[in-house]
Amino acid sequence: MLKPRETIAGLKPYHSPILSRDGLSLDLNESMAGCSPRVLARLHSLSAKHVSLYPQREAGERLLANFLGIAPEQVLVTNGMDEALSLVFTAYLDRDDELLFADPTFVMYPMLGAAVGAKVVRVQSQEDLTLPVDDLLARISPRTRVIAIANPNNPTGLAATRADLLKIVESAPHAAVVIDEAYFEFCGGTLNWRTLIPDLARHPNLFVARTFSKAYGLAGLRLGVLTGAAEHIDYLRRLSLPFNVNSVVLACLEEALADRSFVSEHVAQIKRGREQLAQLFNDLGLRFWPSQTNFVLVRVGHAAKTFVEAMKRRGVLVRDFSASPCCEGCVRITVGMPKQMDEVLPAIRESWAESLRA
Ligand SMILES: Cc1ncc(COP(=O)(O)O)c(C=O)c1O
Repeated sequence: MLKPRETIAGLKPYHSPILSRDGLSLDLNESMAGCSPRVLARLHSLSAKHVSLYPQREAGERLLANFLGIAPEQVLVTNGMDEALSLVFTAYLDRDDELLFADPTFVMYPMLGAAVGAKVVRVQSQEDLTLPVDDLLARISPRTRVIAIANPNNPTGLAATRADLLKIVESAPHAAVVIDEAYFEFCGGTLNWRTLIPDLARHPNLFVARTFSKAYGLAGLRLGVLTGAAEHIDYLRRLSLPFNVNSVVLACLEEALADRSFVSEHVAQIKRGREQLAQLFNDLGLRFWPSQTNFVLVRVGHAAKTFVEAMKRRGVLVRDFSASPCCEGCVRITVGMPKQMDEVLPAIRESWAESLRA
C-alpha cells in the first residue's frame, strides 16, 4: 500500500489563515497601500513571451545583489520568503536534528521543521515578549542545526538588537541561523537596530531573508530573497527548483526596487497608523507592544474572541492570537491606510466596549 514518508503522514492538516475576504483584511499583515503604480504599469505592459517562456532568475538576483550591496552569488530569489525558509530547513535539518526558536513567533517555523522531521525546540518569551536571548543561548546543543529568528518579530512587532543576534550567530557556528527580516522596511527610529546583511561576510552560518510581500505590496506575486555565504547559497540553489520564481514578478522587480517613494510613503503611513493605535490603546488602558512592523499586538483580555467578532460585524477582520504561546487574550491588528484608520479606530473603541459587556 502506498504511504507517504512518516514525517509527512504525521503532519497536521494545513488550514489557510485566510478565513474570509469579506471586510477590510487587517488579519494577514498585507499591504493596505496596494503596490507601486510603476509595478502595475509594468504588469500591464507585459507581452505573451513573459508568460510563455520559462523565467530566468539570474538577472533578478543581480539586481537584488546590487540593491543589497552583496555579490550575486550570495543571493537566491524564492517563491515568497516561505520557500526560502523551507529550503534552509530542508538543507540543514536531518531527522531528529533540532530546530530552535523563541515563542511567540512566525507560525511557519514549527510547521516547516515538522515537515522535515526535525525536533522542534521552543523557548518561551517572558511577559514583555522580547527575544529571550540568554534562554536561547542556553538551549543551543550539538544537535541544533537551524535557529530561526524573525526580526522584527511576528506577532509581537518587537525588534532585537544586532548585538544580541550576533551573540546567537557566534554561539552556534554548526547551525544555520536565519534572520527573517520580513518587516525590515518598517523598522527604525531610536533602536539600536539594523539589518544583519552586512554581517554575512564574517559569519558563514548566517542567512538573512527578505520578502516583497509587505512594504512592497507584492504578496500575491510571491517573491522572497535569501542571502547568505556564497558557498551555502550555492547548496540551496542546487536544492531549489530551477523555475521557482515566475517571470511576471521578475519582470516587475526593477520597477519595484526603483520606486523608493512608494515604499517610503507606505512606511510613513504605517508609522502614523501605529502611533494612532498606540494612542488609542493607551486611552483604553490596554497592554500593547510597541511595534516596528505593519501591525500591532494588543491584549484585549479574556473577551478577545468577542472583540474579534465585534470588529468583524463592523467590517474589519483582525487576528485572534489567544491560542498562541504567551499571547493569552491578544489580538494582532494590521495597520491600515489613513482613510481606513478613520473607520478602524472607532471600530476598535466600540468593539472593546462591546467585549467588556460580554
Ligand atoms: C515573519 C514572517 N516571515 C515570513 C513571512 C512570509 O512571507 P512571504 O509572503 O514572503 O512568504 C511572513 C508573512 O506573514 C512573516 O510574518
